Amino acid sequence: MDKEPRLLGVIGHPIQHSLSPDMHNAVFKKLNLNCSYSAYDVTSEKLESFLEECIEKRFGGLNVTTPHKVDVIKYLDSVDENARRINAVNTIKFNEKIKIGYNTDGVGCINALREEGEKIKGKRILVLGAGGAARAITFQCALEGAEIIISNRTRENAINLSKEIREKLGRRVLVVNYSEKSIKDIMPQTDILINTTTVGMHPKANRSPITADTLRKEVTVMDIVYNPVETLLLKTAKRKGCKTIDGVGMLAHQGAESLKIWLNLKAPVDEMKKTVLEKLKAR
Ligand code: ATR
Repeated sequence: MDKEPRLLGVIGHPIQHSLSPDMHNAVFKKLNLNCSYSAYDVTSEKLESFLEECIEKRFGGLNVTTPHKVDVIKYLDSVDENARRINAVNTIKFNEKIKIGYNTDGVGCINALREEGEKIKGKRILVLGAGGAARAITFQCALEGAEIIISNRTRENAINLSKEIREKLGRRVLVVNYSEKSIKDIMPQTDILINTTTVGMHPKANRSPITADTLRKEVTVMDIVYNPVETLLLKTAKRKGCKTIDGVGMLAHQGAESLKIWLNLKAPVDEMKKTVLEKLKAR
């Protein structure tokens, strides 16, 4: 191992609530790696110059979060096929002066589902939301052979995403209205429901995108919101008798995939989850 620490980090704005530094530094401690991971508050105006600074300081890589996942692409030298399709980057690797973009959100979600025993191929997956996370998840699930249904508050965003998936992957995607009735109507044809909207996220934790009446107990319900760990949607689904999967798994797995890209490392995902849960509990 080099004497000089391998510098890694996450950039976003705002960034102070990010759990990524704790999650990654716990891995470095556990594996006794000379690496250090910090959070950097970077505004859009400073994005390009910050990346240049990272090269000067010989950073190994960065995670990228809101609001830079799309805008950062124009400053990169290359973007892998997956991130290009999704049109969003959440991981950058610095190869000397070359900046390469990746997206680990979709794979992170799929690994979290698989870890809980879910199969993806041939499953009908209803995704609530059509934002950045939904893009990564729907593309990856479609690639893995799932049938995708999208429901989003702004229907136009769902339509646009469905068109993109059809054009880029040749897969048809169903769009349903974001209403209790339409979502209930599609429930008999749904195996897995994934909430990617911000509804139910701290501090508005008393909200849920759908009610118990809309759910069906045979559906697996995943929420990618991880603060709180048990969202109102997951509580409601559990009461209904559904299998539930919280957002901590996806957070840890997308981080683990980033570590694989930067350090060619098989990350201890359980340690990462444990750290996130401890930090959330202490808040
Ligand atoms: P992320 O990167 O986490 O996916 P995002 O790109 O800002 O975040 O996307 C947020 C998603 O949550 C969008 O699908 C958004 O719906 P719109 O396209 O209509 O904006 C959805 N969302 C946010 N607030 C919502 C609310 N109060 N009710 C329903 N959906 C909401």
